[in-house]
Amino acid sequence: MDIAKIAQTRHTCKAFDPSRKIPAGEVEQIRTLLRFAPSSVNSQPWHFIIAATDAAKATIAKATEHPMYAANGQKIMAASHVVVFCARTTLEDAHLVEVTEQEARDGRFANADAQALQLKSRRFYAGLHRFDLKDTQHWMEKQVYLALGTLLFGAAALGIDATPIEGFDSRILNDVLGLREKGLTSVVLAALGYRSAEDFNARLPKSRLPAATVISEL
Ligand SMILES: Cc1cc2nc3c(=O)[nH]c(=O)nc-3n(C[C@H](O)[C@H](O)[C@H](O)COP(=O)(O)O)c2cc1C
Repeated sequence: MDIAKIAQTRHTCKAFDPSRKIPAGEVEQIRTLLRFAPSSVNSQPWHFIIAATDAAKATIAKATEHPMYAANGQKIMAASHVVVFCARTTLEDAHLVEVTEQEARDGRFANADAQALQLKSRRFYAGLHRFDLKDTQHWMEKQVYLALGTLLFGAAALGIDATPIEGFDSRILNDVLGLREKGLTSVVLAALGYRSAEDFNARLPKSRLPAATVISEL
């Protein structure tokens, strides 16, 4: 697999072909990409909602009714699938314990002391962000963006087109999906599917700042 080529040829899809749907096997791979995304101290402070039906996509598109977001609403409706990336609104100790117990079930600890040490480390970082840096929500949302990046690259590797979408009203989406009651907040969306002939961005050359500007060596 030529990963540099994937990076250079993936693009933000600006128009999807509504008649093309992502096959079930590839949707399953997308679910795996989301679930296995890395996060600081394996905190996984996220939840992903996947919409595939017209009704579900229309619910999400309610958050794009502002004229500035209207073009994103069209992408959401024409896409095969739309992922709503949510962050937790709190990072309670019970969640840290749940993650640690899952790691124990998955066989990551040689003994109880190793498990206790891992939980202690996890609590240290969670406490640092809660009490000292006071940026727990921001910290959790950074992790959510790692999942977005994982999905964007992975989708391209699967030959699936994608649009990352920040242009939506998070408050409306939280409301229509009842996210607040679930302890979640919407952060970013990704529309997935296959480009149509109207996808002008597929024909444009990629543009990035020069390597010398963004990368240096010590
Ligand atoms: C976090 C994030 C949010 C974005 N939001 C939107 C959006 O709301 N609508 C849209 O059409 N493109 C959106 N984009 C696409 C960017 O404009 C695009 O990634 C950038 O111009 C680079 O182009 P490329 O993805 O084709 O390489 C977003 C990209 C990212 C990473």
